[in-house]
Amino acid sequence: MNNEKGKKFSTRIISSPFKRPDSHGAISMPVYRNAAFEFTSAEDIADAFQFRVEGHTYSRISNPTVENLEAKIKAASGAGSVMAFSSGMATIANTFLTIAYAGSNIVTSPHLFGNTFSLFKFTLAEFGVEVRFVNTDNLEEIEAATDADTCAFFCELITNPHMEVADIPAISEMMKRKNIPVIVDTTIVPWCGFDAKKAGIDIEVVSTTKYISGGATSVGGVIVDYGTFDWSKNKKLAKINGVDPCLRFTSKLRKEIGRNIGAYMDSETASLQSSAMETLELRFEKMSGSAYVLAQFLEKQEEVIKTGYTKLESSPYKSISDNLFENNPGAMLTFNLGSKQECYRFMNNLQIIRRATNLFDNKTLIIHPESTIYGTFSPEMKNFMGIEDTLLRLSVGLEDPEDLKDDISNALARI
Ligand SMILES: Cc1ncc(COP(=O)(O)O)c(C=O)c1O
Repeated sequence: MNNEKGKKFSTRIISSPFKRPDSHGAISMPVYRNAAFEFTSAEDIADAFQFRVEGHTYSRISNPTVENLEAKIKAASGAGSVMAFSSGMATIANTFLTIAYAGSNIVTSPHLFGNTFSLFKFTLAEFGVEVRFVNTDNLEEIEAATDADTCAFFCELITNPHMEVADIPAISEMMKRKNIPVIVDTTIVPWCGFDAKKAGIDIEVVSTTKYISGGATSVGGVIVDYGTFDWSKNKKLAKINGVDPCLRFTSKLRKEIGRNIGAYMDSETASLQSSAMETLELRFEKMSGSAYVLAQFLEKQEEVIKTGYTKLESSPYKSISDNLFENNPGAMLTFNLGSKQECYRFMNNLQIIRRATNLFDNKTLIIHPESTIYGTFSPEMKNFMGIEDTLLRLSVGLEDPEDLKDDISNALARI
């Protein structure tokens, strides 16, 4: 219903109807800040609790304002089901708590966002879940790492901060043959720039803190289930209960794991992010257009040793990237200077670009990943994770790219 043919991306989001109309005719979904919902009879509340009828009972489980954001994301992505959480990390943790079991393994790249690496390598290991790190450029290595206990293939759409792109359609084809779900963190490029279902992704995890929050207004995340994986075909994963074999993941997530863990998104965040969804395409186009301009500019600077942006001719991932992304591959880019000291001096001389973590704020942000996001990992671990101390990560915002170029030129002149 939400993804009617003929309607373009922003129209689908802006015209996505409320599931239950507001009694005052509010044009935007009000913020339902209450914890509990009242029922007219004991029978009705029992029916809602036992999922015999749809209804909100308690805001840790579902909430009308959050449901409205979930509907907008369904309209944007064309997914079968969407559930919103309190952070991007909560979506990854909830996804793997839904499908992993003691003795199972996850096949992935060591090139991951730091907290995701730590979740797999340290936190889930305590529960008997093994992580198998592979080079995701090598299909044979991926295939050799899988077995009957592989609960998922996981990767990031564009690795952060390595700027690599796995050939997801080819990996997905292989995983379909093996009945293993493909789960991808697609935070780096939203649905207006990338068709996850067409690429063969079964489940997406997204940090909505980034593009979707609309200027870093709030922390959140969504799990997007395309309903494309038939859980009944994998003997070990068939334990995931549910009537429809393709909706088993969502059913277990909603009815068991999500409510037991208690990391559902709050209504204030959902309201902010629903409004921001309406301008997502505009912001993405401007930011990613500027990122391409800046990547080309950086590549020409003599102080810059290497620039990472997958649309550049110099990127080994250009052809996969051009194939996956409709226009520009997002607003994150990286570049290397001659030393860590040069990176620090460059950062300290910037006037417009902000020294801050996070991605896809309206403001352009810079960070030195080795000393911050990966700062608490040992040197050996950083090496294993491919983290260089000469690398800077830039998240390009909505400022005029000419002003950003000037800021970069001035800071480079002082390193
Ligand atoms: C690619 C990626 N995935 C997940 C996360 C975690 O998101 P959150 O901070 O919303 O938990 C981040 C955070 O920077 C990220 O860059």
